[in-house]
Amino acid sequence: MTIQSVGVIGAGQMGNGIAHVFALAGYDVLMTDISQEAMDKALSLIERNLDRQVSRERISEDDKKAAMGRIRTTKQLSDLGQTDLVIEAATERESVKQAIFEDLVPHLKPETILTSNTSSISITRLASRTDRPEKFMGFHFMNPVPVMQLVELIRGIATDQKTYDLMHGVVEKLGKTAATAEDFPAFIVNRILMPMINEAVYTLYEGVGSVKSIDESMKLGANHPMGPLELADFIGLDTCLAIMNVLHDGLADTKYRPCPLLTKYVEAGWLGRKTGRGFYDYRGETPVPTR
Ligand code: CAA
Repeated sequence: MTIQSVGVIGAGQMGNGIAHVFALAGYDVLMTDISQEAMDKALSLIERNLDRQVSRERISEDDKKAAMGRIRTTKQLSDLGQTDLVIEAATERESVKQAIFEDLVPHLKPETILTSNTSSISITRLASRTDRPEKFMGFHFMNPVPVMQLVELIRGIATDQKTYDLMHGVVEKLGKTAATAEDFPAFIVNRILMPMINEAVYTLYEGVGSVKSIDESMKLGANHPMGPLELADFIGLDTCLAIMNVLHDGLADTKYRPCPLLTKYVEAGWLGRKTGRGFYDYRGETPVPTR
């Protein structure tokens, strides 16, 4: 089987990046979201990000035009049934993902590979709710998708070798690098990254440092491209909290206890860049620390 058409569920920050890289690699992309506005926004963001690549001479104007021409959108989830590969990139909530798979599965052609871009949820459990656990995989991209080299490939207990090999080939065609992770909470990247971010929030909560000093320490003292609080805002504080909860519930170890301050920011609706406020306030010219 060869993969030519790809369905992307969710036009948010991960969905639009995934649509971008697949279209640029020559795949036909069909993106869906419950919100037309989110899809319109995603298309203009993809165009802006492609322009950025054109201006840095990474791709040509023709590459950009061809990529934009390969992306279609639909409000009907069932339209994705005829694609060869479906990548679910909806909100990081198991009930949402399960409901999507339940709605989608009756419309899928038998050979379609089904994947989830979940950053933490059990692939085996998600797969078990579908009609094709052997053709189901975790397919985890990093943000910003057009820039980050890594894709985590996660096999559920029932995923067959053919599906894994096929997806490995897709990662290569995208020009990215695959890391294989076993199906345990948050896989590899987030198992390591999220406790670090959570610890940075504890460092702030306990008054060890301010937002600025914590971020500067990790940027200048550990050569991280972004400080952990800036990165948390970039990922989304709701996503960070959801992943910590998956680690805490799934591994039952208090070392994964989400920091109460992280919970408070999420409860306030201060989710980071996407809502204009998180550990920084993004509503002015330059980001201003909120603590
Ligand atoms: N689309 C296309 N290109 C983009 C882009 C986008 N959305 N964002 C940035 N770029 C490109 C720029 O054009 C630039 O390209 P060149 O190298 O060709 O010049 C390059 O990326 C660097 O961009 P900038 O110069 O504008 O900015 P920067 O040097 O500050 O880098 C960054 C920005 C790449 C985001 C960098 O700060 C970084 O690497 N941050 C850490 C990101 C990270 O850790 N991501 C993983 C998060 S964890 C995750 O995603 C997993 C999860 O499940 C939560």
